Amino acid sequence: MADGFSLNDALAGSGKPNPQGWPGSWGNQPAGAGGYPGAAYPGAYPGQGPPGPYPGQGPPGAYPGQGPPGPYPGQGPPGAYPGPTAPAYPGPTAPSAYPGPGAYPPPAYPAASPYGIPSGPLNVPYDLPFPGGIMPRMLITILGTVKPNANRLALDFKRGNDVAFHFNPRFNENNTRVIVCNSKLNNNWGKEERQMFFPFESGKPFKIQVLVEPDLFKVAVNDAHLLQYNHRVKNLGEISTLAISGDITLTSASHTML
Ligand code: GAL
Repeated sequence: MADGFSLNDALAGSGKPNPQGWPGSWGNQPAGAGGYPGAAYPGAYPGQGPPGPYPGQGPPGAYPGQGPPGPYPGQGPPGAYPGPTAPAYPGPTAPSAYPGPGAYPPPAYPAASPYGIPSGPLNVPYDLPFPGGIMPRMLITILGTVKPNANRLALDFKRGNDVAFHFNPRFNENNTRVIVCNSKLNNNWGKEERQMFFPFESGKPFKIQVLVEPDLFKVAVNDAHLLQYNHRVKNLGEISTLAISGDITLTSASHTML
């Protein structure tokens, strides 16, 4: 990556988390091309391997729908894509089904970034497969919009029927907003870990990034660190699905390696 992002930078501090808990280089990125690893990578085709060692480093023209810089150029209307493996992609003149950049938290979607990515909306619930399981340095990025009057959303990292990591924002639990994290092993929920800081808003777009580290999951929302969750399921290679559910429209779900 030419400017501002290197593997060393990206991983700096991941062994010894800083107070924010994020490697600084990918927590808040400027609008430079490729400077935003999670969403810049055209991984809206789930399971698709990265085109190069860094997100967004694919060869020019490799993605036909990737138009000039702008807010999600080329994103077509709902239903334009038969499925996540669709080879064809409408050009950048397709009507945008996505809200403009102003709809986003300012640092989240810099207009100049290469977001000309084939993407959703994807059907929810949605399963993002990890064919070889998950592993440290894997970064999972979910872009979506919370529905109006939402009640809940959930990410479930699954090992078969077990839920290794349940990330569950609740918009109204006894008139309180709370994020509940837990694991479900052999059909039993374990001890909940709760986070009262709540960055989601009904009706608003969001970005969730989950970085897999050796001992824990690290979660950022809209470029700010939110929480971490120690691995309870230790065999990361067996965690082979991320199930995304709840009251959202899902724009893209992808993963890449830092
Ligand atoms: C339960 C809820 C589950 C899950 C779990 C987490 O009450 O039904 O969906 O969120 O809490 O502890």
